[in-house]
Amino acid sequence: MEDTAPKRAPIIFDGMTLPPFKPLREDAEKRFREIRNLECRADDVILATYPKSGTHWIWEVVCMLIKGSTEYMKEVKEFLFLEAIPDLGAIESLRSPRPLNTHLPYRWMPKQHIENGGKIIHVIRNPKDVAVSMYYHYLTSGVFNKDFTFEKFLTNIFCGPACAMGSWYDYVREYERAAEQDQRGALFTVYYENMKKRPQEETKRLAKFLNIEASDKLIADIVEKCSFENMKVADKTIKDQSYMDKIIDVGEVARSSQPVMYRKGVIGDWKNHFTVALNEQFDKDFQEKMNNSNLHIQFE
Ligand code: A3P
Repeated sequence: MEDTAPKRAPIIFDGMTLPPFKPLREDAEKRFREIRNLECRADDVILATYPKSGTHWIWEVVCMLIKGSTEYMKEVKEFLFLEAIPDLGAIESLRSPRPLNTHLPYRWMPKQHIENGGKIIHVIRNPKDVAVSMYYHYLTSGVFNKDFTFEKFLTNIFCGPACAMGSWYDYVREYERAAEQDQRGALFTVYYENMKKRPQEETKRLAKFLNIEASDKLIADIVEKCSFENMKVADKTIKDQSYMDKIIDVGEVARSSQPVMYRKGVIGDWKNHFTVALNEQFDKDFQEKMNNSNLHIQFE
């Protein structure tokens, strides 16, 4: 990565650059295999997202639906992030249903969960906004020098050979294929943009998928509690952030810079970052790669 100043060597496995969680730093393949062979319960729920697609948001909504309460989880979502949990065996002591989450591609999802017809929620966000969000994530975590431009990031990294969790296209297409082949209605797709535009309706759909009876009042309260503004405050005031220090290994220098998780939370910020030429190139690539896809990607 030219012009970047990584504090530690990137972790690369199976064509993906991985986030710096200790189990991945120690032995990424081992953790991937542990996840693939995870002992699952029939009622486990796994949230599967490409990074920067709204994982924190939808995880909180799912947790509130499962609890039937609008109390925020004290734990950060990384507490149930399969790649980061220090000892995966520890999840055995958790109460069912367990709202797990992961950025792993479908081919690495727990085998048993798939055999069980266990529920998977796949969140998709348009790739232009994902790219912008990921750029700022890296920038604020000190992975890049401040003069590393968005254009360089988009061209060399996001559209390059080893983006975080591989290519956005491969990721969403793999889940799309799995959803098409899913006979049991176990794989549910949520679009970030729909959640922004129609949060009430989408939260209701999620509750239905989870077989949870939720009153209109509960749904409305969850929507309110999980608004961008409220979650941003809760992240600072409620969540046990000290947990992150225990699970991340970024080297001594980088620890002083924290990635910004709650940055803007909007649809269409890409318009402030893509030049006309970059956008044309991106659209061309998008048309080719999504040519025969039925996904409803919304850029605004
Ligand atoms: P931006 O960087 O565009 O603001 P993830 O949780 O997968 O890392 O995704 C992070 C992105 O989701 C960030 O996008 C963040 O602001 C946005 N986000 C988090 N909570 C949100 C909410 N309640 N509503 C809308 N967007 C939210």
